[in-house]
Amino acid sequence: MTYKKTKEKQSVVETTYTDDKTKKYYAWRASNYDALADWEIAPHDEAVRITDAKPGQHILIAACGTGRGMEALAGAVGPEGKIDAIDISEEMIDQARNKAEKLGIKDRIHFTQANVRHLPYPDETFDIVYNGYMFDLIELAGFMPILKEMMRVLKPGGRIVLLNMSKLDERKTFYETFYKWTGIPCRPVLMAPYLEKLGFKDVKRIYRELHPKNFYELVISKLWGQEIVTARKSEKS
Ligand SMILES: C[S@@+](CC[C@H](N)C(=O)[O-])C[C@H]1O[C@@H](n2cnc3c(N)ncnc32)[C@H](O)[C@@H]1O
Repeated sequence: MTYKKTKEKQSVVETTYTDDKTKKYYAWRASNYDALADWEIAPHDEAVRITDAKPGQHILIAACGTGRGMEALAGAVGPEGKIDAIDISEEMIDQARNKAEKLGIKDRIHFTQANVRHLPYPDETFDIVYNGYMFDLIELAGFMPILKEMMRVLKPGGRIVLLNMSKLDERKTFYETFYKWTGIPCRPVLMAPYLEKLGFKDVKRIYRELHPKNFYELVISKLWGQEIVTARKSEKS
């Protein structure tokens, strides 16, 4: 871990969302999601590069949303590769599916409405599990079981890449103190310790502050940043 450890007992605040609330929220957000949260595009570009995806590989995009990162990942695996993309929200998947069709990559991507808590795939199916801005709306008790599911479907030596709303270190931020009154689903998370605890290898964390392009982003940049956490499943099963 590269962030500063503090003596605080709980360094990540609890979410105000449940799966049901998430489904309702994203049914409403689906059609306007891509018009907002533009600042998440650059971190996705970086996270996709970090996957180091290769032609012919099989990738799971868990919580694909409207499909950010999907085009670059499809390009990296090429026509011999394949992508499975899941999301709990049918409406978000519809957006991603339409995008894949317009981009001419729909043959490479198979979409399924599913909950990451129960991944509908056999053990050791994927070379890479890619997951963006989802753990930041999952309850703390869900982190380990979901990561275990992701580990289960990864091949030995496979890579996990998690991109999330985050913060520089474990200290409680101003945003966290009023998060529960905002109605915003996400709060900053720190995922590296969970991956280490589960036995993932080569756990690395990159923290990125937002470089604002307008006033709205300037405000956001004062409230939170993003982390990309990557690791490998052990070669030994
Ligand atoms: C903030 S959006 C991010 C979407 C996309 N990954 C991105 O980075 O643009 C969060 C997504 O996670 C999905 N999600 C949340 N909880 C989930 C769960 N338990 N299983 C599957 N998808 C989930 C939501 O439906 C939503 O599409």
